[in-house]
Amino acid sequence: MNNVRALVLTEFGGPSAVKVSSVAAPTAGAGQVLVRVHAAGVNGLDWKVREGYVRDAYPLQLPTVLGIELAGVVEAVGPGVIGLRKGDRVMGPLGGMGAYADLVAVNAAYLCLVPDSLDFVAAAALPVASVAAWQSLNLAGPIHAGQRILIQGASGGLGGFAVQFAHQGGAVVFATALSQHADYVRSLGADHVIAYDIEQFEATASDVDLVLDYVGGQVLNRSWSVLADDGVIVSTASPAILASTPAGRRGLWFVNTPQAARLQAIADDVTHGRLQSKVAAVVRFDELAEAIELNRTEPQVGKTIVDFSL
Ligand SMILES: NC(=O)c1ccc[n+]([C@@H]2O[C@H](COP(=O)([O-])OP(=O)(O)OC[C@H]3O[C@@H](n4cnc5c(N)ncnc54)[C@H](OP(=O)(O)O)[C@@H]3O)[C@@H](O)[C@H]2O)c1
Repeated sequence: MNNVRALVLTEFGGPSAVKVSSVAAPTAGAGQVLVRVHAAGVNGLDWKVREGYVRDAYPLQLPTVLGIELAGVVEAVGPGVIGLRKGDRVMGPLGGMGAYADLVAVNAAYLCLVPDSLDFVAAAALPVASVAAWQSLNLAGPIHAGQRILIQGASGGLGGFAVQFAHQGGAVVFATALSQHADYVRSLGADHVIAYDIEQFEATASDVDLVLDYVGGQVLNRSWSVLADDGVIVSTASPAILASTPAGRRGLWFVNTPQAARLQAIADDVTHGRLQSKVAAVVRFDELAEAIELNRTEPQVGKTIVDFSL
């Protein structure tokens, strides 16, 4: 049986709980394609899964391969797949885990073609953050001009895209970030950038129609005070919002779902310069465990990508 390189979680725990290992190569089942992975995006979910924080939401049999998004080349096509062929350059989320491996079987419906002018590293930065930003922004209904939107965690992977989508939709955008990231967030179109290390967002943001909570914890809890009476908070970071939403208020928990057509439209916007996508760091496969830990301890502005060719 052929084996491939993979980053495997052997037990819940710290950085040493993940190891580069050799695992059996998958085959493409019905509706799947086999992708030769060239690049994959690092996400906050990686270390949350590693630590066991989300084991109830994502029940896993260990050992398991980490990684939730990839870009690469179709190596084989399973039965029933229409629209993708061997040799196609593709990108997408897995709708599960296992992207940190040389060969991955993926549901073909989750994938879209990588535009010619995007390299694999740039492509791997898009599938989860950009689509989750779009979906969470519009979860409570399509956004509209003049809407007051507060984005908590605006310099992160989701935040960078959400600021741009909200600005392009004509919203009045309030955005929180560390002071050293304020210029970056302003450059994406935020109207009011709040440097949370030197000021309280409550002093600037008020009567907010929609809060996008990409941070969770106390940031989420404090956000109710700036929300308009009929406003809504959408959290991607804190499932506790479901239990902690005050009586009479509206709080929604967001769960990302693959949406290939949206990803394709976003990739086209990136290639035509209508949307900025920021890659903060590119690492080798043997640096991946460390990059996952860095995502926990020192989140970067933009995405960290593992380039399988390095
Ligand atoms: N539910 C789902 O389906 C789903 C899908 C995707 C992501 N997520 C989750 O959504 C969250 C955001 O994801 P991401 O990929 O954008 O993470 P990320 O890239 O790590 O961004 C989070 C950002 O939050 C900022 N931050 C930290 N403390 C803050 C505070 N007190 N106030 C304001 N901003 C603060 C940091 O920016 P500074 O450096 O400027 O502080 C950081 O860049 C994560 O919890 C992730 O796990 C959930």
